[in-house]
Amino acid sequence: MFASARDESGPAPLDQVLALADFEPLARGALPHAVYEYIASAAGGEHTLRENEAAFARLKLRPRVLRDVAKIDTCLTLLGDALSHPILLAPTAYQRMSHPEGEVATARGAAESGAPFLLSTAATASIEEVIAAAGGRAPIWFLHYWQSDRGFNRELVERVTAAGARAICLTVDTPVLGDRTRQYRAGFELPVEMATPHLHDRLVRLRGVNTPQRAVLTWRDVEWLRSLCRIPFVLKGILDPEDAQFALAHGADGIVVSNHGARNLDTLPASLEALPAIVEQVAGRVPVLLDGGVRRGTDVVKALALGASAVLIGRPYVYALAAAGAEGVAHCVQLLRRELEMAMALLGVTTLREINRKTLW
Ligand code: FNR
Repeated sequence: MFASARDESGPAPLDQVLALADFEPLARGALPHAVYEYIASAAGGEHTLRENEAAFARLKLRPRVLRDVAKIDTCLTLLGDALSHPILLAPTAYQRMSHPEGEVATARGAAESGAPFLLSTAATASIEEVIAAAGGRAPIWFLHYWQSDRGFNRELVERVTAAGARAICLTVDTPVLGDRTRQYRAGFELPVEMATPHLHDRLVRLRGVNTPQRAVLTWRDVEWLRSLCRIPFVLKGILDPEDAQFALAHGADGIVVSNHGARNLDTLPASLEALPAIVEQVAGRVPVLLDGGVRRGTDVVKALALGASAVLIGRPYVYALAAAGAEGVAHCVQLLRRELEMAMALLGVTTLREINRKTLW
């Protein structure tokens, strides 16, 4: 099921990839249909999936002219790490379905392009392999999925910290998996034969009633997990300002505004729509990041204009991985970064700090 057409045709020529959207048809051609649908699909009628991108398209930009934009600087510091741009690679599970080297290839692409990479608990490579592959050129964060065995959660935190993860990011929006009809129709089955070194609760079903398989996570567990962390602790999947307030009260060092790429609950607002109220609530105390629908440099500008410190991309780099491995991932980030720089020059801003509400029309 997971053998790919790429084996016969070789990696896709990257000079034909001029925008992130160009990776999708290449991935569709390279992957078995069911795996493509697993990546591409979202929950229910996929209204939120469409909204994630549409919300960016609705916002308009305000260019300022005749400013000196000879030098554009996209640097920032995020949770203590100096970054050359504000684009991160979101956690995505089971990457060996997309490419034989899976997360190891992604880590190499992250290193090449200077993008922090969030390794999922449902990864098919270990944190040690991934950190070695990144070679100190890109921070690796660990995406923690809460698991039923408390001791296992503790050991995992200790292991990833010892390995050199720069942050632990806990997914808080997935008590059960969403209803991904398109993926079911395609007959996608979890690759049980594929090793997932950090996943203890292996038998999470992807279809039907899956409540009993998921370990329920509550604010009390968040507090406990936070108390174990000696590195920055980030919560991913917050849409409500009151939850953002709780996150701060429970010691979060950062928040990712996310609807899980529209994969869990349909008819949620776009992440971008949820962002301003959370930024207001957080009031600069910790960085607020955003993912969902980021496809263009102008999208990065818009998220930053509404108060995000940085953005994450999901599907685009998974398609790039499927199409062209590590090189594809690096090209994906570099394209987005170049688009960001171009948009900044055309808007008349030269640093990320200058991007604010006034950058919007
Ligand atoms: C995801 N996402 C995800 N999130 C998470 O917290 N842990 C995970 O293991 C996964 N796995 C995963 C697999 C695949 C194939 C996709 C597409 C997504 C969600 C991901 O981190 C992110 O929130 C969204 O992908 C961002 O939206 P875009 O960029 O895909 O629109």
